[in-house]
Amino acid sequence: MYKLAIAGGGSTYTPGIVRSLMDRLEDLPLSEIRFYDIDGERQSKVAVAAKAVIAEYTDSIKITETTDPETAFEDADFVFAQMRVGKYAMRELDEKIPLSHNVVGQETCGPGGLAYGLRTIFPMVELIDDVEKYAKESCWIVNYSNPASIVAEGVRKLRPNAKVINICDMPVATMRNMAGILGVEREDLVVDYFGLNHFGWFTKVEVDGEDRLPELREHISKWGLLTEDISKIDYRHADSSWIKTFKNIKPIMDFFPDYIPNPYLQYYLLPDYIVENSNKEHTRANEVMEGREKSLFETIRKFEETGILDDAFHVGVHGIFIVDVTVSIAQNLAKRYLVMVENNGTIPNLPADAMIEVPALITNKGPVPEYVGEIPYFHKAMIEQQLASEKILVEAITEGSYEKALQAFTLNKTIPSAIVAKKVLDDLIEANKEYWPTL
Ligand code: G6P
Ligand code: MN
Repeated sequence: MYKLAIAGGGSTYTPGIVRSLMDRLEDLPLSEIRFYDIDGERQSKVAVAAKAVIAEYTDSIKITETTDPETAFEDADFVFAQMRVGKYAMRELDEKIPLSHNVVGQETCGPGGLAYGLRTIFPMVELIDDVEKYAKESCWIVNYSNPASIVAEGVRKLRPNAKVINICDMPVATMRNMAGILGVEREDLVVDYFGLNHFGWFTKVEVDGEDRLPELREHISKWGLLTEDISKIDYRHADSSWIKTFKNIKPIMDFFPDYIPNPYLQYYLLPDYIVENSNKEHTRANEVMEGREKSLFETIRKFEETGILDDAFHVGVHGIFIVDVTVSIAQNLAKRYLVMVENNGTIPNLPADAMIEVPALITNKGPVPEYVGEIPYFHKAMIEQQLASEKILVEAITEGSYEKALQAFTLNKTIPSAIVAKKVLDDLIEANKEYWPTL
């Protein structure tokens, strides 16, 4: 029986993750779930829903809500991390400040992602240190915290021996859509993939040994990564902005039909198009606050009044994936998933110390990447530019160097010039004063 802590317990994702955990209790038996958040008030609201979900399955799991790291992590076997430093208020600024300079406004890509990275690295390191101090030696942190690529690089650099596995649900969400398009189950797909987080390509998609890339290419250049019937897409990705995101990769597929891009590549390959089609006053952060956030708190209010729990957080790939990865660690199953690992020769023509996203076997000793081999120049060049931007950003915050922050912004492919980079960076520094004391 395991003790599991969810750091970022106040997240709107928590009830969905908890439902995934409950669905897998046989594979991951739990004696205790601890919700941990620095915002106790928000967490206690969300916990109403999370606890109601647990009560549907069992009353034998001890549930703890805490804002104290020792209580959260003492003797823990697993920690799920999903912190959002600065919450949606800062996400809104990460999106809107760049857009006010006609630059992509996105939570993890472009200047918004760099800003979010600067906010998250130190809190993530603090979390790792707390877990190391209080949890079992065998404890793994399974980390969804964004911007995952920058967080992974920060952790690699500052806490190289930490037992952290950095994951993202976008590859698996893309596979869900591919499976919907091909009319098969997601589990039937065998894929190859390489890149950085939110910056990669599917190079193989097979079902029963048959190459299905040609069919997908044809479909994507007509419909994007959507089926005509979008009910095949889970609700979290059914908002209009997500539909747009999955459609936007159509032109990329027409230009570069070799591989299937992670949808986030649109921000780097089509930044002018993305900016033209963005609403500078109403971004994804607003959509989430008015949608997912509101409906969860509404569900909780209704539950407290009537005892009826609406399923406003059904289990999508996001919850399923983090539990799948954890089960593979717990039972040492060596299942193959796309996760972030240190390169070390997996892609020989990229730096050994790059945190790449590739297929890996997930064991109780961590992820064991599968050899990928050399990648083509075009992809290598794109990845190296992005990697440099992210690595220099981590140096900027650890050294307190404005110049390096400016280099990181200038290198980011979403930003057209050093002049624009400086303007956006200066505005973001102003907005992030309380988070970046060193810049
Ligand atoms: C995907 C990505 C996450 C990202 C999320 C944003 O799941 O993999 O990294 O945080 O989308 O979704 P949202 O609904 O909050 O815009
Ligand atoms: Mn992600």
